[in-house]
Amino acid sequence: MDLKKYESKINRVTSLDKLNELEVRFLGRNGEINKLLSEIENIPDEQKKTYGQKINQLKSSMYRYIETKKKELQNKKSDVFFDKTLPGKIYPKGSLHIISNAIEEITKIFEKIGFIRVSYPEVDWEYGAFESLNMPSGHPARDDVETSFIESAPHPRFGKMVLTPHTSNGQNREMRRVGAPPIRMINISKCYRPNWDTTHTPMFHQFEGLCVDREITIANLKGTLDYFAEKYFGKGTKTRLRPHHFQFTEPSFEVDISCNVCGGKRMGCKVCKSGWLELGGTGMVHPNVLKEGGIDHKKYSGWAFGCGIERVIMMKYGLDDIRNYYSGDIRFLEQF
Ligand code: FA5
Repeated sequence: MDLKKYESKINRVTSLDKLNELEVRFLGRNGEINKLLSEIENIPDEQKKTYGQKINQLKSSMYRYIETKKKELQNKKSDVFFDKTLPGKIYPKGSLHIISNAIEEITKIFEKIGFIRVSYPEVDWEYGAFESLNMPSGHPARDDVETSFIESAPHPRFGKMVLTPHTSNGQNREMRRVGAPPIRMINISKCYRPNWDTTHTPMFHQFEGLCVDREITIANLKGTLDYFAEKYFGKGTKTRLRPHHFQFTEPSFEVDISCNVCGGKRMGCKVCKSGWLELGGTGMVHPNVLKEGGIDHKKYSGWAFGCGIERVIMMKYGLDDIRNYYSGDIRFLEQF
């Protein structure tokens, strides 16, 4: 019953394991305190109450004492020698992914000539991806870009939700955001289409240029594409426009760049086969798209283009399989 006896035993302990052993020995179900309590039946009735109180006091004092000792041992510094003068471990440095690098590079090129970098949603309404771009519901042009729909209740005006198949959904949003021209947008975002081969992945990136102002012509478009081609692919790179069809531009073109391997001259080159490589789609913004964006199409005109980031990197470095970007293979990625 002497607390001092227990205290001195607890005090001498130097490890948490030993302390736990003592705790079980003193306070456990078959421990010494419970044994003392069970002896209460041999105590005369008139002393039972005082005896019980004393044991309970002893139990709670011992419990507090053990807890204090536990904290003391937990805070105790390790005895193992630690040399603070040793240099720290040097971890290998990472670097930006090839796609992030290209996004930075392309952004800088366009910012130099007054374009503003934006990034519009990867998940948008059908309205943004199609209707606002002169592709009404049921229009066959929507099949050109196979679209992934999100399971959700359709919006009464904007339709179903889609994973954007192109960055052209940014056109209407930018026109609405800026209000009155001039508009000079470079929209870089992720796009989704259900394709998987050496030049297509289900998720990819596009950069979309949009320029709207008074008296904007195809000459401005060609000049901007030439500027980009020289800055990104190197001096002497030329562009050419080939007639094409997009529902949201009129006239529409596909834009090619001259092959840097054969200088755009040699037919039969292994990389380009024809002297030219396809960069993306472009054209003069369709009046219906301007109208939908709240812009007076009689006062203003504009052009737009959309190109794949993965594609321009392939063209720049002569890569032959787009899937390497997403393989996570460091041997491939650390080359860039
Ligand atoms: C478009 O997406 C049009 N929105 C481009 C445009 C914008 C035209 C503005 C006119 C005005 P297209 O479907 O051709 O066009 O795609 C453009 C580029 O995106 C392609 O040249 C290709 O580089 C890239 N691309 C398309 N699908 C994939 C894919 N699954 N994986 C990787 N890149 C892709």
